[in-house]
Amino acid sequence: MIKREDYEFIRTLVYDYSRINLGSDKQELVSARIGKRLRALNLPSITAYCDLLRRPDGDDELSNLIDVISTNHTFFFREPAHFDFLENHVVPECTSDKSVHKRSTFRVWSSASSSGEEVYSIAILLSEIGAAKRGWQWQLEATDISTRILKRAREAIYPEESVGKVRPELIKKYFQKGVGPQDGNYRVKPDLANRVTFRHLNLLGAAYPFSEPFHVIFCRNVMIYFDRPTQEELVRRLSERLVPGGYLMVGHSESLTGIHHRLKMVKPAIYQLPA
Ligand SMILES: C[S@@+](CC[C@H](N)C(=O)[O-])C[C@H]1O[C@@H](n2cnc3c(N)ncnc32)[C@H](O)[C@@H]1O
Repeated sequence: MIKREDYEFIRTLVYDYSRINLGSDKQELVSARIGKRLRALNLPSITAYCDLLRRPDGDDELSNLIDVISTNHTFFFREPAHFDFLENHVVPECTSDKSVHKRSTFRVWSSASSSGEEVYSIAILLSEIGAAKRGWQWQLEATDISTRILKRAREAIYPEESVGKVRPELIKKYFQKGVGPQDGNYRVKPDLANRVTFRHLNLLGAAYPFSEPFHVIFCRNVMIYFDRPTQEELVRRLSERLVPGGYLMVGHSESLTGIHHRLKMVKPAIYQLPA
């Protein structure tokens, strides 16, 4: 079991870097996850691991620590209400003759993208819609704090259970089925995968690297790990990156109730910046 002072050290380090709030009762989870790093580094104890993190060269290990601590669970077309809303409400609104955005490139940001399933689901949807709208331009950005998970996102190879909610005709159109050692896996076809720009980004870190605002930002199933002041700061920063009338999608288990923001709730887990 992890010693109290080691737990407090890890907890503070993780919070200061990522704002992930481990709380006071996650000792078991943290011990289990750090166990992976002890084995990889051949270290005898969590105390030895904390000593490594305290050394000047410990900075390199910090991103591995965040990697093992953060939860990356995701799958294609998770929380389908957001994809329905995107298809049936947001895109028609932004491309209607009356829209001030009609001629601008439609931009979507998957801000805690994990291994890419969320942003590739959006890519599939926009590609399908785009096929029926000649000349319509769209761009996708995807970011995450974990370099390991971003590598997986760029590889774009997924097990069968991850693509379970993708309609069979879309699997056929947008995925290559693995053979031999890749049997049972599905790879997003490069034409589609190349439409996404992945970047390493800490949502609570330095200024965001985008020069153009977004019509939609997905920030799903990450706010749950942050405390209220951090959620408030994050929603403020994301709101500043929306076009007037743009949308923020949060996870259905995450609510903005109780935090100050200037967005209007239009549906559960969907918020809009007033135009
Ligand atoms: C559970 S996944 C959510 C994936 C996807 N958005 C979904 O809803 O299925 C949470 C992701 O948030 C990332 N994350 C945690 N803290 C972060 C931070 N401060 N900045 C950016 N990403 C962060 C984690 O690395 C992880 O990949």
